[in-house]
This record gives sequence, structure tokens and C-alpha cells, in this order.
Amino acid sequence: MKMNHRKYLIVALIATFFVYTGISGVLATVPVQTTKEQSVQVYHSFHPGSIWNDTNGKVINAHGGGILYYKGTYYWFGEHKVAGPIGNTAQVGVHCYASKDLYNWKDEGIALHVSDDPHSDITKGCVLERPKVIYNKKTHKFVMWFHLELKGEGYSAARAGVAVSDRPEGPYTFLRSMRPNAGIWPLNFKKSWETSTLQPDSLKGWTPAWMKAVEEGLFVRRDFKAGQMFRDMTAFVDTDGKAYLIYSSEENLTLQIAQLNDNYTGFSGKYVRVFPGGHNEGPAIFKDNGKYYMITSGCTGWAPNSARSGVATSIFGQWKALGNPCVGNDSDLTFHSQSTYILPVHGMKNAFIFMSDRWNPRNPIDGRYIWLPIKMSKEKPIIKWRKSWNLNDFTNR
Ligand code: GAL
Repeated sequence: MKMNHRKYLIVALIATFFVYTGISGVLATVPVQTTKEQSVQVYHSFHPGSIWNDTNGKVINAHGGGILYYKGTYYWFGEHKVAGPIGNTAQVGVHCYASKDLYNWKDEGIALHVSDDPHSDITKGCVLERPKVIYNKKTHKFVMWFHLELKGEGYSAARAGVAVSDRPEGPYTFLRSMRPNAGIWPLNFKKSWETSTLQPDSLKGWTPAWMKAVEEGLFVRRDFKAGQMFRDMTAFVDTDGKAYLIYSSEENLTLQIAQLNDNYTGFSGKYVRVFPGGHNEGPAIFKDNGKYYMITSGCTGWAPNSARSGVATSIFGQWKALGNPCVGNDSDLTFHSQSTYILPVHGMKNAFIFMSDRWNPRNPIDGRYIWLPIKMSKEKPIIKWRKSWNLNDFTNR
């Protein structure tokens, strides 16, 4: 009996062992699930500069981005970056994420793929930056514009790229790239400047005479036939349905604002120059109370600098400079970031989010997103650093 009992005990122990290991096999997946659940965070606020995960727990990869609001959903488009210096070129394409609350973003995949065809303008290894998508109510098409540099040509091509889709999240079909407004003078260009014989190489750079010549269209004239240079850019659809691209042109010395044609896939031929010789990059724009506000950066590559702002009563100007919108600590370096987009929060009055990139050119995939609320003070945008904040900030101020 004693023996039987012992046997029973041994059998029970072995059985317990198997059951335990069996269960532990199951249990082993539990912590994994828990870990996964833990990394799949639900956000209730913004945390500028911190790692920001999508709803799968993967770090959001959408740099130099912009946002489209369509039928109750926000779509965030940005450059998909990869690790290491090669990530400063386009290895994948434009990534899209969707959100209803602006805090939690679902991965919608690659909206525009770079091409495997070496002859394509958007072949893998080109530079494809700052994608922005706008919706055309007449054609029901989603139109993506971006800054394109041809593979192996550094930043010399300075072209505008355009792609279209029937669905917000894509896939987008690349249409073409171009230099805007070839053979057309800007609306705010003096007649006498058209015929000036001054050439860029006849003047020493950065001298007062050169600066004056830049203001008087030195590079507009040089690029008149081939079309204007197009680098850092944003897109904007006005309340009347007319769409515009705002971009760094003329060797990044002058911004241009160009109206798009009715289907948004080309230029209408109407464009102006803004802040000639002002050296603005990273343009972002919003409309508040019938006025247009612009926030830009200076021109120091990936390194941060002081932001600038401007206001106009008509999108084509006159634009008036308003100075650095950032205040407080680190405001002279835009909190270590560079403007990319200004997002109007749907359904809220006077609620605009300043979106900015903290670049990491050595490991571009680890660039961070800086989203901060814009506060209007005496008709001037003001941006302050926040460690964390949420949309209630707009109503509680
Ligand atoms: C920045 C620009 C970026 C990228 C970079 C390349 O000034 O804003 O989009 O073009 O230069 O150096």
C-alpha cells in the first residue's frame, strides 16, 4: 500500500511535471503576449521627441510628413527612412498611417513605392522628401506631391514629383516629375527684371550686389526656360478649393507659392515669389480667421535653426515677416527640429498643430517627431515646448 502510494506519488509528480511544462509552454506565450500588449500602448497625449509607436507597437516611420483629413480619418504621410546614412535616400517610399484621434496611428503600409526600374525618376536610391497629399473634390482623386532629387545627382535636380490614387492610403501611381512653371514669369516680377542681363556667374556670391540681384530675380531668370527649382515643400488647399504648393526655390534663397491646376496634378501658371533672398526652408502654412500664416525654418541642412513666421491677407501676398514663433528654452533651435506641416484639428476652432522633424542624419530611421500646439497671440503664432500635452489644451486656454 505504502509502495503503491509512493508509485502513485511518482506518477503524479511526473504527470504534474508534464502538465506543468505543457502549461508552462502555454504560459510562456502569455508573457510574450503581455509584453506585446505592453508595447502596444494606447496613447492619450502627445510626447514630443519620444519614441512614438503605431497600433502594432512598431515605431512610426513617416518623416518630413504631412496630414490629410478625409471623412473622419487623419492620414499621415511621410518619408519611410531606413537605418544608417543610406536612409537619407529613398529605399522604400512614402509610408501612410491612419488615425481618428491623432494619438494612435494604424499602419496603412507604403502608399508610394520607389521603383525597381533604374530609368524611373523615382528609382530606389533617389531622394524623395516631404510628401504631402491633398484631395480633389472634383476628380475624387488623392494627389501626392513631393520634393524629388534624381538618383546620383545629389540635390541638383530640384524637381516636383506627383502621384495619384483613388484611395487615401494608396497605392499611389507616380505620374511624372517636373520643374514648375517653365517659361512663365512670377506674378510679382517686375518687367525690367525679365530683361536684365545679370548672370549668376558674373557676380561674387553673398556680396550686397549679388543679394540685390537675387532679390531682383537672378535665379528666376536663369531657370526661366527649364522651370523653377523645387525643394522643401508643402501643399495647401484653400477654402475655395484652389490648391497651392509652397516650396524653396531659387537655390533655396526664395520661397515660391504656385497655384495648381483644377485637377491638382500640374501647375496653373500662376505663382509668386515670397521673401526673396530670405533663405527659407521647411515651409508650413495654415489659415486662421481669413489670414494666412506661414512657418518656415532657416537653411542649415539637417541641423536645426531658428524658425520664422509670416502673415498675409491673400495667399499670393504681400507676406509680412513676424519673426520666430517659438518661445522659451531652445526656441532659437526650434526645440531641435525643423518645420514640416501645420495641421488644423478637425472640429476645433483655432486649433493648429505644429509638426516638426528632429532629424538624425546618421541614423535617419531614428528621427523624432515634434508636435506642439500653436497659440495665436495678437495675430501672431506662438509655439512653446511641452513635454506632453493633449487636444484639451486647445479648449483650456
Ligand atoms: C534640409 C531639408 C531636408 C533635407 C535636408 C538635406 O534642409 O529641410 O528636407 O533636404 O536639408 O540636407
